[in-house]
Amino acid sequence: MSYEYILTEVHDRAGLIRLNRPRVLNALNVALMNELADALAAFDADEAVGAMVITGNNRAFAAGADIEEMAPRSAVEMLTADMISGWDRIAQMRKPVIAAVSGYALGGGCELAMMCDMIVASETAVFGQPEINLGIIPGAGGTQRLIRAVGKALAMEIILNDRRLSADEAYQFGLVNRVYPVDSYLDEALRLANEIAARAPIAVRLAKESVNKAYEMTLSEGLAFERRNFYFLFSTEDQKEGMDAFLKRRDPQWKGR
Ligand code: CAA
Repeated sequence: MSYEYILTEVHDRAGLIRLNRPRVLNALNVALMNELADALAAFDADEAVGAMVITGNNRAFAAGADIEEMAPRSAVEMLTADMISGWDRIAQMRKPVIAAVSGYALGGGCELAMMCDMIVASETAVFGQPEINLGIIPGAGGTQRLIRAVGKALAMEIILNDRRLSADEAYQFGLVNRVYPVDSYLDEALRLANEIAARAPIAVRLAKESVNKAYEMTLSEGLAFERRNFYFLFSTEDQKEGMDAFLKRRDPQWKGR
């Protein structure tokens, strides 16, 4: 399928999506977000792909939702169009999604990165929620996901007072997994995606689902959810294969069954 605002590629078993509106620092308009969700869903359904990477370019991952598109809208138009509900699809993928972030990840760009399961950053990455400068607040999960990533005190500063985080700070505060030089961050993100894609697929899927449930459930509900998935995995051929391979000191051959 061809898209207007994104580019897609497959690297071994990693599906790569490049946000491609460089002139406006990958400002996230409705059409781009729909294309992104469609492309992710296509990779999610493709057996040849085991994990996805979303990236921008070296200057900008994304500088936020498209301000030009939003500026004239009334509250009723925003509510009726419910633009952000389209973004929810990004967080609903069953396979792991990694954000490879260089340069600006601001506003909706930071929120998009946080919808992913992991963030690999370049040394030049800058994370922030500058919506306050526009007289609004984050609308795609920033107030909820940032606090879970970096804690309340820092999240307040970022959201109320446009504090920006460098890549090293984002790493230090637990927002990103790894930081690499600009020349290698994308290759490293693809390497990480391919490493995960080479693991037992059903276990990876249920692991992602179980970790994400920690956001939604009480501890006892989450523990019960995890336990059921743990027991369920003993019905898979991959569990028999993985344990047999361990006991016979050989490499496992995963089937995804
Ligand atoms: N929407 C629309 N256009 C944008 C944009 C955005 N979010 N961010 C940048 N652009 C455009 C600029 O208008 C400019 O276009 P022109 O060349 O046609 O003038 C082009 O991208 C380059 O930007 P700058 O000239 O501003 O580049 P700079 O290097 O001087 O500054 C920047 C870079 C600090 C990222 C600055 O562009 C900026 O502050 N951008 C806006 C960041 C922002 O406020 N994001 C939050 C958006 S609201 C949101 O995301 C809501 C939500 O929660 C969903």
